[in-house]
Amino acid sequence: MTPPAPSVLVLGGTGFVGQHVCEKLQRAGWRITVPTRRATSARHIQHLPGLTVVEASVHDDAALARLLPGHQAVINLVAILHGSEAAFERTHVQLPARLARACLNAGVPRLVHVSALGVATDSPSRYQRSKARGEQVLRDSGLELTVLRPSVIFGAGDRFLNLFAQLQSVFPVVPLAGASARFQPVWVEDVADAAVACLRGDTVGKTFDAVGPDIMTLADLVRAAGRYGSRQRPIIPLPMALGRLQAMLMELAPGEPLMSRDNLDAMSVDNVTTGQWPDLGALGISVSGIAAVAPTYLRGPPARSRLLAIRGHLSSRHRKEKGRRN
Ligand SMILES: NC(=O)c1ccc[n+]([C@@H]2O[C@H](COP(=O)([O-])OP(=O)(O)OC[C@H]3O[C@@H](n4cnc5c(N)ncnc54)[C@H](OP(=O)(O)O)[C@@H]3O)[C@@H](O)[C@H]2O)c1
Repeated sequence: MTPPAPSVLVLGGTGFVGQHVCEKLQRAGWRITVPTRRATSARHIQHLPGLTVVEASVHDDAALARLLPGHQAVINLVAILHGSEAAFERTHVQLPARLARACLNAGVPRLVHVSALGVATDSPSRYQRSKARGEQVLRDSGLELTVLRPSVIFGAGDRFLNLFAQLQSVFPVVPLAGASARFQPVWVEDVADAAVACLRGDTVGKTFDAVGPDIMTLADLVRAAGRYGSRQRPIIPLPMALGRLQAMLMELAPGEPLMSRDNLDAMSVDNVTTGQWPDLGALGISVSGIAAVAPTYLRGPPARSRLLAIRGHLSSRHRKEKGRRN
């Protein structure tokens, strides 16, 4: 008799990276459970054979205790990019602590945690400080832990390059704060391959920097989005004070801001590997750059539909967030 396929619980499996992780896991023969706050958020993955969607709050100890039994491992991809100090604390620190306790209680000690490149407890950014504290909580927990730290992630459905491509198809110039901030963008498929590879036993106790082959400034990324999209527009670099004002106004507008003051704070520190941790080559992954991948998904519909897409992007996020708050 063939043994049953191994089973993994994927927190954040409905998200941009999570969707690709679930597809790779399914192909690698895993059974998958994805908890979500709303079952409708899982409509793009629920067709995958062997994948079960469960509507549940991962912030609830009892729900985690019900979810974990029967799984051999957990992947945590839950994160927020914007929010209050309390929201970052709850999502990036308290949730990992809660998850670690639940995993140990349920006898499921194997965890792959997706963090972010550049996290540090002394970072100027709330996002990065809270992610660093979350990592530390997990390192201290006694779990069999592997940590993956991606730089900015691109690929079909990304928020970053798609949005900059859409903006350039509609507006004549791009006013840009933090234009010289440096990143090492990594393809979502490479990150997803890495998350699956991190389930291997030989990665326990290790951290991997998930970075791509190219170091690019934010201005380079905006230019690439324009070049591989439909139109490249001039960039007007904004001084930081003006950038902060722009970000504050974006935060006041409904929906998720395109750029928050905390994002600007994060960009004041380079987002490139320091070489302290191995990169994806150590997992046997040969990474792809933006030039090879972005043209395949950035060329899109004509300008009017892109303006509608930008408005749709903002208002659907607003509706989603409003729905969750209610
Ligand atoms: N995207 C990037 O460029 C990037 C760069 C570096 C690191 N990362 C890291 O990669 C991981 C995945 O990122 P992503 O871009 O895929 O994120 P995403 O698309 O925003 O997805 C986040 C997931 O987390 C869940 N989630 C969000 N807020 C939650 C909350 N308050 N409570 C419970 N669940 C919540 C959502 O699930 P439901 O809505 O279904 O409940 C969603 O599936 C994160 O750890 C992120 O920090 C991403």
